[in-house]
Amino acid sequence: MTRTIVVHSHRGGTGKSSVLANLALLIAAGGSRVGVVDTDIQSPTLDLLFRLAPGASLADYLLGRCEIEAAARQTGVPGLYVVPARTGTAALRELMSTGYDVGLLPEGFDRLAEHYALDVLLLDTHAGLNNESVTAMASADVVVILARADRVDLSGVEETVSLAGRLACRRALVLSMAPEGIDRVDARRRAEEVYGAPLAGILPYVPEMAALYGERIFAEAHPDHPLVGEFRTIISALDARDEVSRA
Ligand SMILES: Nc1ncnc2c1ncn2[C@@H]1O[C@H](COP(=O)(O)OP(=O)(O)OP(=O)(O)O)[C@@H](O)[C@H]1O
Ligand SMILES: [Mg+2]
Repeated sequence: MTRTIVVHSHRGGTGKSSVLANLALLIAAGGSRVGVVDTDIQSPTLDLLFRLAPGASLADYLLGRCEIEAAARQTGVPGLYVVPARTGTAALRELMSTGYDVGLLPEGFDRLAEHYALDVLLLDTHAGLNNESVTAMASADVVVILARADRVDLSGVEETVSLAGRLACRRALVLSMAPEGIDRVDARRRAEEVYGAPLAGILPYVPEMAALYGERIFAEAHPDHPLVGEFRTIISALDARDEVSRA
């Protein structure tokens, strides 16, 4: 049975794609078969992060030009496959002008999971609520919600939590990019007050991550950094299938 993990945030730039890429790498390195789909068609990232060559994408699949499994690329990591969102803007313009059948998304996720015998499917999303992010959440076993210690981010958490609750999937809140010197106890208290359950993790702002220019995956570049330990803690929290996320 494939477990589907969606990474989402209310606002952009919270670290969704970076966290997802690191989780994918670490889960695959642990021996699981992992699929990743970049559903962020507006502003794709994973093609760059995973250094994929141009080729078939999720957009091509949604436009009926290929099967989704043909858009999945092998990466340097055995058992890790990535479907990029799109290459170029032509497909985006086409999708925006003609629209597409959103039912193709869950169908594609299922097919990918079956074709590649995936243990875990990770879905990256555009910030906020749009067709792709809501459809991804509807397919999720667990939604990882990323928020910075910031009033607007946290008010968005309320909205996402209420949606994820209606969709009956588990959820895990992670505070992201916590600045150095932040009062972690206070930040945790504020976030948990909004969220109504314990956090799955607090990720610090790490300058070495920003210095990678989004060209490399952190766990690959700095395997022994404490941040990688934080990513592993999140993976354990997601594995635990406990109350962490069932608020
Ligand atoms: N913990 C961190 N510390 C420092 N920089 C980070 C951290 N996490 C992510 N970044 C950097 O922040 C930038 C934005 O990250 P990322 O693209 O992962 O965010 P996102 O939420 O996916 O953005 P978008 O909403 O545009 O999809 C990247 O340059 C990334 O390297
Ligand atoms: Mg992103």
